[in-house]
Amino acid sequence: MKNFLQDIKTKIFADGADLKSIIEMNNNPLISGFTTNPTLMRKAGVNNYKNFALDVLSLINDKPVSFEVISDDFDEMERQALEISSWGKNVIVKIPITNTKKEISSSLVKRLCDAGVKINVTAVFTIEQMMKVLPNMSSAEAGYISIFAGRIADAGIDPLPIMAEAVEILSDHPKIELIWASPREVYNIIQADQVKCHIITATDDILKKLNLLGKDLSEFSLDTVKMFFNDAAAAGFNIFTDTEKYVVK
Ligand code: E4P
Repeated sequence: MKNFLQDIKTKIFADGADLKSIIEMNNNPLISGFTTNPTLMRKAGVNNYKNFALDVLSLINDKPVSFEVISDDFDEMERQALEISSWGKNVIVKIPITNTKKEISSSLVKRLCDAGVKINVTAVFTIEQMMKVLPNMSSAEAGYISIFAGRIADAGIDPLPIMAEAVEILSDHPKIELIWASPREVYNIIQADQVKCHIITATDDILKKLNLLGKDLSEFSLDTVKMFFNDAAAAGFNIFTDTEKYVVK
């Protein structure tokens, strides 16, 4: 089986808010960082932002972990960013590209970079948006821009040329790394690597499928056939009898 992963240069960050799987991923040598967001935290049932973040940071202190600000007001976002960043030296603060009023966060980005806060500009969908914040990140020692490739694809647009262009632009900004955010399938890791994207985030369901990379297709086909056969048998299906009433349990 070809080992795809050993040739992949794109770093993989685990994206999620489930502490158990974060612990598991921290022990996985393929994972070099972590991201989360308020939606993932809510889904995972996190009810205390700070306690959750501190729990994560007590376990992970040597890999970047992104936590997002949760205000809609830039001054309050700044206050939150300074607080969040004080929780650990490996903390990256996610700043949305705009607030909900569609006002661009570029001035805040500048203030935070100048103050030495490591930031991850999140929810970026276009090169135009990226170009509005990038010049304001020039003082950053390290920083990230997350382009939501999966959501771009959800909108029916191929994200690959956008990601390739972003990588090209960032070649003049060596301290800023591009994150392929919101992946939808394992193949996105291959695509991210093809365009030399620095990082890709991956949720649990994608990470669980990493072992499929390089799998022989005829073997994969056979496993699929076996899956159908075994499930039919386990369900006790019989094409020729109609004595039992059909019920969905
Ligand atoms: C990345 O940092 C984001 O948390 C994430 O990739 C968002 O993905 P989604 O489009 O699946 O919500």
